[in-house]
Amino acid sequence: MKGGRLKTVVCGTTFGQFHLAALAASPDEFEIAGVLAAGSRRSADCAARHGVPLYTDVEQLPEDVDLACVVLRSGVLGGAGTELALRLLSRGVNVVQESPVHHDDLVACLREARRHEVDYRVGDHYVHLPAVRRFIDAAHHVLDGQPAVYVDAACASQVAFPLLHILGESIGSLRPWHIRAAPAEPEAPFTVLTGQFGAVPLTLRVHNQVDPDDPDNHLHLLHRVTLGTDSGGLTLADTHGPVSWSPRLHIPESVKNRFDFDAPGTEHLAEPSTLVLEAASSSDYRHVLRDQWPLAIRDDLRTARSAVLGESCAGRPHQYQLTLARMWQDLTKELGYPSLRPHQRYRRLPASELAAATAQDAPSSAPAPGVAAPAVTQTSPLREVETGELARLARDAAERRVGDLDAQLVRDFVRQLDDAVLASMITALQHAGTLRDTERTYTEEEVLQTAGVVPQHHGLIRRWLKQLAQRSVIARDGEGFRGAPSRTEADVRRAWETAAESWCQGLGPDAFITYLRDNADRLPHLMTGGQQAALLLFPQGQTHLADSVYRDPVTARYLNTAVAATVSSLAAGRTTDRPLRVLEVGGGTGATTEAVIDALTGSHGTEPAVDYLFTDVSHFFVAAAKERFAAQRWIRHGLYDVDQDPAAQGLRSGSADVVVAAGVLNNAQHTDTSVRSLVRLLTPGGLLLITEPTREHLEILASQAFMMTAAEDARRRADTTFLSRQQWLDVLAGAGAESVETLPHEEHPLAPLGQRLLIARFR
Ligand SMILES: C[S@@+](CC[C@H](N)C(=O)[O-])C[C@H]1O[C@@H](n2cnc3c(N)ncnc32)[C@H](O)[C@@H]1O
Repeated sequence: MKGGRLKTVVCGTTFGQFHLAALAASPDEFEIAGVLAAGSRRSADCAARHGVPLYTDVEQLPEDVDLACVVLRSGVLGGAGTELALRLLSRGVNVVQESPVHHDDLVACLREARRHEVDYRVGDHYVHLPAVRRFIDAAHHVLDGQPAVYVDAACASQVAFPLLHILGESIGSLRPWHIRAAPAEPEAPFTVLTGQFGAVPLTLRVHNQVDPDDPDNHLHLLHRVTLGTDSGGLTLADTHGPVSWSPRLHIPESVKNRFDFDAPGTEHLAEPSTLVLEAASSSDYRHVLRDQWPLAIRDDLRTARSAVLGESCAGRPHQYQLTLARMWQDLTKELGYPSLRPHQRYRRLPASELAAATAQDAPSSAPAPGVAAPAVTQTSPLREVETGELARLARDAAERRVGDLDAQLVRDFVRQLDDAVLASMITALQHAGTLRDTERTYTEEEVLQTAGVVPQHHGLIRRWLKQLAQRSVIARDGEGFRGAPSRTEADVRRAWETAAESWCQGLGPDAFITYLRDNADRLPHLMTGGQQAALLLFPQGQTHLADSVYRDPVTARYLNTAVAATVSSLAAGRTTDRPLRVLEVGGGTGATTEAVIDALTGSHGTEPAVDYLFTDVSHFFVAAAKERFAAQRWIRHGLYDVDQDPAAQGLRSGSADVVVAAGVLNNAQHTDTSVRSLVRLLTPGGLLLITEPTREHLEILASQAFMMTAAEDARRRADTTFLSRQQWLDVLAGAGAESVETLPHEEHPLAPLGQRLLIARFR
């Protein structure tokens, strides 16, 4: 092992492919040393895809393998997993074996591991999935100060072991434990069991049927759990979310006696009857399989890695695993053999079809506070206009707004700004005591530690290091980086002054560059958490500076005008009397809204035939917009979180003709999911207008990125802050875009500033 990178082999290539994806996602921690499998075509392809050797026997493995993931059925399920694990352990290889493992096999493997002084553990990625983690964390909060009254759970028998693990992690104890099956209907898919888990009464329904032709594919569900307390029930609706909280219905005396719902003591009745705590409900299975599972396995393997490296956070003690294994055996004994259901069929019912059917037929449910859902009418007022034509109109309006531009000035500015930011980044790190010695190599961990970077900014400062190395400010050296010569304060000041001089030749207001420079000066405090980035953008809670940052720079003027022109040509070209329905998400300071209002109302200020719903995730911006746009009675206001399911926020499918998302989607945790949610809100032929940075921006890495949510999508995998233009095109194509246009085009003088408008039309 070099620099803590464990040479790891994956044994088995059915589920093992997820392990390979997990290892590939963390090249700093794991090196894929090979695939060990029976030698089928799939295994050979799989090894070739990862560019690693395929071994067909333990004896062929190289001597220096550190870790093996045994992803074969264990002995108890009729597979060779345990036997293989024992052989690997006896060769001095650390092993993570996929659950479930029989208690006696576990004892044998732990004994063999002890004999050879290596680590052995049972792997289970389910407890690391985002929704399950959220459920476990919420359970700890709910049970802090009150006991659980019941657990009501369901699972498929194939994933019963992880269910017990999830319950153990949520409740905090495993015993007292017992379980009994109730008599079952012969053909019923579910067996009902009752018992006790960690002293909490348990009811459990297990789907105990298997299709012998395809044993992993006939599952009615994975895991579903409700943890009941005197306050209410916490529910994990499915392994991939959502997690929700349903307070108990408690009717006070004032309601019973006087039917008074506003009397003191009825405040709890104003809370939602169910609150979805996270947005995993809208994770599609592609995202689950491609991203969530590998990352969860990676997190699980990290505990094994910590144990191998002798670190402290090496997971639960062996006794815990042994108890879980016993409990799983008790459960499977009660369940008996699964009944066989050969030739099971899968029928697809698209969720979108269901949503559309219920949106049109069902009476409207009460909208979420602040967001009054407009009625869904079926006739779209959108003319069959080409996106190319819309883009041309938008471009012409934007060109008129920004006037002639000096392409050379823009290119010079981009280079000068990058130089200034790089100088500030390296100086901040050096002042914090790291990367000073050009003869020394510093690992990422060391840089983060020495500079005192708070954990939530580790990812960001890693991206700094990547950029500093790519732009030759520091040199990569194996696993780490060489130090750099230091710069004087005068050098750094000059770099900023040069950039400011170019900027002020018509590219934007002084305030913008001063804002960036203030951030650069505060980098040591931003890194260490002593300075909140938001206070630099909203000094004393005021919005003047932010207003200017999102309104006045040349790209903001160009893009806001282009969005506005697109919306106004759609409003002008309506084919029915129905107002054009526009939803703006992440409206923020209202810079884009203001441009749209100007374009729609023209110089006469007439009221347009538009129903405009301004939203943001933050109350602060929604309240400010309400006040600012009070005169525009056709604008409604509400909260909307792009990370959450639209339906849970009171928005119905097909309720918008146009969605405007200006500079907000880089905050989404999962771009694909957020975009698909927005697309569901569109009428057929509707448009999504997105403005976004489409390259890495050093000045953002040194300012607003300190406020951004960590991404869980392609950006996390590639370690970038923004999606590229091509990645956006892929996201939009994946969401069903019929046509997409981007502005400004690649040869435009503003292109080097790296921001784009995407105009996407959906079927
Ligand atoms: C860069 S600003 C957008 C600029 C905006 N178009 C303007 O003119 O001010 C990002 C906005 O996205 C909002 N935001 C951040 N995360 C969000 C989320 N998950 N859902 C909706 N809005 C979010 C922020 O509150 C902020 O107002």
